[in-house]
Amino acid sequence: MGKKITVLYGTETGNSESLADEFAKAAKAKGHDVELAAASQKNINDLKSIENCVVVISTWGDGDAPADAEKFCETLYTAEEDEVKLDKLRFHILALGDKSYIDFCGCGRRLDGHLERLGATRFLARKDLDTDFQDHFSAWKDEVLKNV
Ligand SMILES: Cc1cc2nc3c(=O)[nH]c(=O)nc-3n(C[C@H](O)[C@H](O)[C@H](O)COP(=O)(O)O)c2cc1C
Repeated sequence: MGKKITVLYGTETGNSESLADEFAKAAKAKGHDVELAAASQKNINDLKSIENCVVVISTWGDGDAPADAEKFCETLYTAEEDEVKLDKLRFHILALGDKSYIDFCGCGRRLDGHLERLGATRFLARKDLDTDFQDHFSAWKDEVLKNV
């Protein structure tokens, strides 16, 4: 049965966006009802009504969010558990980064932790990918489609 899946991306140089786009196409081809959007187009209230969410997000600066997703991440990091309940949300994060930086995939890791803190459930554990992310894309995509 096809599911409703929202695929969000946060990017500076387009890597996360292109993986999110490729994933969205593969999920549609499997019969899922897919929405692809930049994280900057969603706010915390939107997340309350999303059932299944795949987030592809990179890390910049010194463990920071990519510029276009700064507001989205900051809102989630600072949300209070008693005010924001994301208990309907099933999610998975694909974090892109570079192991030569101290805070490898720091943004994806933080986002993963805060979504859990706000009541959301992981349908698949976070995946952190280095600069060779293309080599792992196909296996990652299959794993997500199997578990969503
Ligand atoms: C200036 C700069 C800072 C970066 N900082 C980090 C970092 O702190 N941690 C990390 O894991 N990757 C870091 N990266 C690597 C990016 O996350 C990686 O290149 C990623 O594939 C970019 O994806 P995007 O095009 O979707 O933004 C940095 C890259 C640059 C150029």
